[in-house]
Amino acid sequence: MAAEEEGLTGPDEARPAPEAGAEPAADARPEPSAEPLHEHRSGPRSVPELLLGRPPMARPLPSFDHQAAPAEPGPLFVDWLATALHAGVLDPQAFTLSTVDADGMPDARVLVLRDVDAAGTGWNFSAAADSPKGRQLAEHPAAALTVYWPQLGRQVRVRGTVERAADLVAAAEFATRSPAARVGALVGRQSEPLGSVAEYDEAEAVARRRLEAHPDAVAPGHAVYTLWAHEVEFWQGDAQRRHTRLRYTRTGPVSSPEWSRTLLWP
Ligand SMILES: Cc1cc2nc3c(=O)[nH]c(=O)nc-3n(C[C@H](O)[C@H](O)[C@H](O)COP(=O)(O)O)c2cc1C
Repeated sequence: MAAEEEGLTGPDEARPAPEAGAEPAADARPEPSAEPLHEHRSGPRSVPELLLGRPPMARPLPSFDHQAAPAEPGPLFVDWLATALHAGVLDPQAFTLSTVDADGMPDARVLVLRDVDAAGTGWNFSAAADSPKGRQLAEHPAAALTVYWPQLGRQVRVRGTVERAADLVAAAEFATRSPAARVGALVGRQSEPLGSVAEYDEAEAVARRRLEAHPDAVAPGHAVYTLWAHEVEFWQGDAQRRHTRLRYTRTGPVSSPEWSRTLLWP
C-alpha cells in the first residue's frame, strides 16, 4: 500500500468535463457531492445489458494534427496531459504498468506517474521493490505503460526497458511524500495475504511510531524506476473509428535520443 493517493488529483484540482463545443471556465469546480457514493444495485445486471447503448467515445472528441507533432514525444505528452487536466480528467497521472513475471505471465496494475523528461525518453514512477511488480521488474527489466483519458478519447502507450535508480534517489523521493504515504510504505508487505484488518492496524501503528521517532526513515524496499522508452504512441480516438495514431520510435541512445515518427493504421 505504498502511495496510491499520492500525487493524484484531489477534488480541489478536479475540473468538470467540458460540454461539447464549449470551453470550460478556467476556474470551474464540480460541486462536492453531499451524498456518499454507494453501489448501484437496481436495473439490469448483466454486462451486455449494462453496456447496451453505451458505445465508447460516442461524443465530440478533439482532433490530433499528427503533421504538427513535435520531433520528440515529451512535449506532445506534456500538451496532452495539460489538455487532460483542463478537460477535467480525474487522476490523469494514473497509468497502467504492465510487466511479466518469472513464468512469462503478464501482470498489470495502476500506478502514479511521477515525471517524464523533456524529450519523453525517461518515464519515472516509484514502487516497492519487494512487491510483485518490483520482483517482476528485477527479473525482467522491461515494461509497458498505458494511460487512457476518457474525456478526450486519448491513449498514450509507452514501451521500454526499466532501470532502478540509486537508493539515494529513492530516499530523496521518499522524503517528498506525505506522512500517510510514508507510513503506508513503511508498513510494507504489499500484496501479501492479510490475515485481518486488525493485523494491518497494528503494523500501521508501529510504522507511525517509527516515523515519529525517525522522521527521516525510508522504507527499505522503496524504489524509483525509470522506464526508458523505445516507443511512445499517441492515440486519438474517433467515434467513427477513424482513430489517429502516431508512434515515435527511438533510434538514438538514451543520452542523445533521436526519434522517428510513423503514422499507424487505426
Ligand atoms: C489510481 C491508483 C494509483 C495507484 N498508485 C500506486 C503507486 O503509486 N504505487 C503503488 O505501489 N501502488 C499504487 N496503486 C496500487 C497498485 O495498483 C497495486 O494494487 C499495488 O501496487 C500492488 O501491485 P503488485 O501486487 O502488482 O505489486 C495505485 C492504484 C490506483 C487505482
